[in-house]
Amino acid sequence: MRKTIVWGSLVLFCLAMPLSAIAQKVGGGDMTFKPKGASDVTFSHEVHVKTKGLKCTGCHYQVFQMTQGSYKMDMSKLTKGDFCGKCHNGQKSFDVKDTKNCAKCHK
Ligand code: HEC
Ligand code: HEC
Ligand code: HEC
Repeated sequence: MRKTIVWGSLVLFCLAMPLSAIAQKVGGGDMTFKPKGASDVTFSHEVHVKTKGLKCTGCHYQVFQMTQGSYKMDMSKLTKGDFCGKCHNGQKSFDVKDTKNCAKCHK
């Protein structure tokens, strides 16, 4: 009887492991970009997906591939409305061109 319970919980434990590992991270998790000449930019999947309710397909694959560093981003592309600038344009979200907003991304 006791033995069954012990094995039972062991099996449950093993089953729960991969599930909890997936639950911890939303999409690609937090990703840090390290541009030359500016401080680091951290992109949070959790903020964009969970808090702001954006769908994976809103960004993948129209704006971004699913691999960090799949595109070379820079500010001139962002201010023209590519990559982060597709939304961070003062309409869908805060504007990359406004100097008040630099520090929202560059920390
Ligand atoms: C607001 C935009 C946005 C949304 C929404 C989004 N992602 Fe991402 N995702 C990104 C960006 C940006 C990258 C990095 C791309 C690059 O560097 O070229 C990325 C990269 C990834 C990666 C690769 C991570 C790595 O370490 O290389 C995975 C996996 C991923 N996303 C999964 C998802 C899933 C699953 C969802 C939905 C739950 C999702 N993403 C929603 C923007 C987004
Ligand atoms: C929505 C987020 C975001 C905002 C807001 C933002 N940036 Fe950036 N910035 C980035 C990203 C992403 C990169 C490219 C990271 C990389 O190298 O992959 C970058 C790169 C840079 C670079 C490196 C050189 C270049 O031209 O790309 C400089 C300098 C820079 N930003 C300055 C600024 C200034 C100044 C502001 C405010 C007027 C600003 N950024 C606002 C996300 C942002
Ligand atoms: C599909 C649209 C979309 C794309 C693409 C996108 N964002 Fe956002 N982002 C949003 C929205 C919407 C918000 C919420 C803005 C608000 O509340 O004003 C947000 C919020 C943020 C915030 C503030 C987070 C907080 O703590 O509230 C940061 C920083 C940010 N984004 C960085 C980035 C960077 C860096 C990229 C490119 C790698 C990017 N975003 C691409 C839509 C997007």
